[in-house]
Amino acid sequence: MKENRPVIALDFPTFEDVKEFLAKFPKDERLYVKIGMELYYAVGPEIVRYVKDLGHSVFLDLKLHDIPNTVKSAMRVLSQLGVDMTNVHAAGGVEMMAAAREGLGDGPVLIAVTQLTSTSEEQMRDFQNIQTSLEESVVHYAKKTAEAGLDGVVCSAHEVAKIKEATGEDFVCLTPGIRPSGASTGDQKRVMTPVDAAQIGSDYIVVGRPITQAQDPVTAYHSIKSEWEQV
Ligand code: C5P
Repeated sequence: MKENRPVIALDFPTFEDVKEFLAKFPKDERLYVKIGMELYYAVGPEIVRYVKDLGHSVFLDLKLHDIPNTVKSAMRVLSQLGVDMTNVHAAGGVEMMAAAREGLGDGPVLIAVTQLTSTSEEQMRDFQNIQTSLEESVVHYAKKTAEAGLDGVVCSAHEVAKIKEATGEDFVCLTPGIRPSGASTGDQKRVMTPVDAAQIGSDYIVVGRPITQAQDPVTAYHSIKSEWEQV
C-alpha cells in the first residue's frame, strides 16, 4: 500500500536540531519521519514521544536482532511508545521475526532488513559463507520475512520487482537511496528518483539529506512529495 508522504530521515545528532527542523513546517502538516539509532540512542524514547505529540508518524529504525524472547519484549516496549513502523534483521530467523510481530502487535508496520546495502556479494560469500548471488539472498530473506508474518522489507528500489514477484504485490517495499532528479547523490551509490521508485512499485521512500540539508527544507519536501505522488 503506497504511502503518499515521503519518509524523512531525521539523521540529526541532537534533540535541538530536530526541534528546529520540524518547526520549519506548517503546524498542520503531518509528516512521516524516520528516527534512527544515532538520534534514539542520544535522546532516548523521549524523541519518539515528542514527534508523536506533534501529530507526525514515526518509523523507528533500530534493526533489532537478538534471541526471540528479548526481541518480543523490546517490541512490546516500542509498541507502547506508539511507533507506526519499526524493523528487525531478517538474519535473526523466522522464529525471531514472528516473536517481534507478537510483541509489537498487528497495528504498526513491521519490516525486515535483508542484506545491508553496504554488504557486497563478495563479502556475503566470504564472511557469511552464503554461496548464492546477493539478489537471491535478498529474495530468500524476503520470502522468509513474509512467512514469519511481517509486512515487508527495506530494500533497494532496484530490488522491488523481484521481491514482489516472490512474495506478492501487498508485501511492503520501503526504499532509501532516493534522489530527486538533478540532486547530488552524496555517498549513495545506486540512487533512483521518486518518480522511478513509484513506477517500480515502492510503497515507501525514505529521503534524508535532499530535504534535511536543503536551503529550504519545506519546499524541497513538497517538491519530492509531488514527484512521488504524481505516479
Ligand atoms: O540522506 P539520505 O537520503 O541518503 O538518507 C537515507 C537514509 O536511509 C539514512 O538514514 C540511511 O541510513 C538509510 N538507509 C540507506 N540505505 C539503506 C538502508 C538505510 O540509505 N540500504
